[in-house]
Amino acid sequence: MMRRDLSGARVLLTGASSGIGRSLAEQAARAGAKLVLTARSTDKLEQLARSLTTLGAEAIAVPGDITREADRQHILATALERFDGLDVLINNAGVGSWCHFAENSEEVLRRVFEVNFFAPAELIRLAIPELHKGRQPAIVNVASMCGRRGIPAWSEYSASKFALCGLTEALRGEMVRFGIDVLLVLPGLTRSELWSNLLRNTGRYPIDVSKGMPPERVAAGILRAVRNNRTETVLGWDARWMLRINRFLPRLVDTLLARQVRKLYAVA
Ligand SMILES: NC(=O)c1ccc[n+]([C@@H]2O[C@H](COP(=O)([O-])OP(=O)(O)OC[C@H]3O[C@@H](n4cnc5c(N)ncnc54)[C@H](OP(=O)(O)O)[C@@H]3O)[C@@H](O)[C@H]2O)c1
Repeated sequence: MMRRDLSGARVLLTGASSGIGRSLAEQAARAGAKLVLTARSTDKLEQLARSLTTLGAEAIAVPGDITREADRQHILATALERFDGLDVLINNAGVGSWCHFAENSEEVLRRVFEVNFFAPAELIRLAIPELHKGRQPAIVNVASMCGRRGIPAWSEYSASKFALCGLTEALRGEMVRFGIDVLLVLPGLTRSELWSNLLRNTGRYPIDVSKGMPPERVAAGILRAVRNNRTETVLGWDARWMLRINRFLPRLVDTLLARQVRKLYAVA
């Protein structure tokens, strides 16, 4: 099995300002990667790049909104200018919405898709020619267990992650002609800032974030997948169980989820 050497690898990482992305940046820097860090929060991003540089790593902050074409082009151009190429693109940025579909809006649905699906898709398209020239090139898409099993109150999010999973699988075949590996990561519940950055926060279907994994563990799992070139990686016991049961007994999962929703909406 191929092992990817992260030392000296030129990595473009989205969503680096918090949560899983921030931990990924720290761990990839320790492994010797050259990092282009992007997200919208300029201060957090620059502070992170400075702290990594102080530790002897090569890291630059390129603030931007990945849903904007001009920003995507600027981010990639800066990466090429600074490191003269690209080896790994990690699409980690994402946003959630916790709200039942009947009460949510088209605006939220479209925004979730812009961030979680269209932005990574177009970043990939932009990066293909550069990755093609790269060393052990890879595209790494961070989806979610919701990308393989839809969860109530996470309908827009689940749909966007299903779309990302579909794109990832299709590209895996397509990218063979460019020698680019396409990897998918499906994390379970994680104690990141996703929960304070939700577009809507009015769902009833309960989720106990305190039971989630620390972002450092998810970041370590993602880097392990990159090193070992693992096609698909499920992270967390909740994700592993949910996806395993769902694969063999999807109707049972439907019934259990529906039972909870029926209770939540039962008239007192
Ligand atoms: N937390 C979980 O339970 C969980 C579970 C499974 C999968 N995931 C996935 O893991 C990935 C990382 O999320 P996280 O949990 O670490 O959440 P997080 O702490 O909220 O981090 C999300 C990152 O995405 C960036 N981002 C959001 N919108 C952006 C935009 N329009 N342009 C550029 N950057 C943008 C945010 O930075 P700015 O706000 O500075 O732009 C932030 O750095 C996401 O794809 C998420 O769906 C999370």
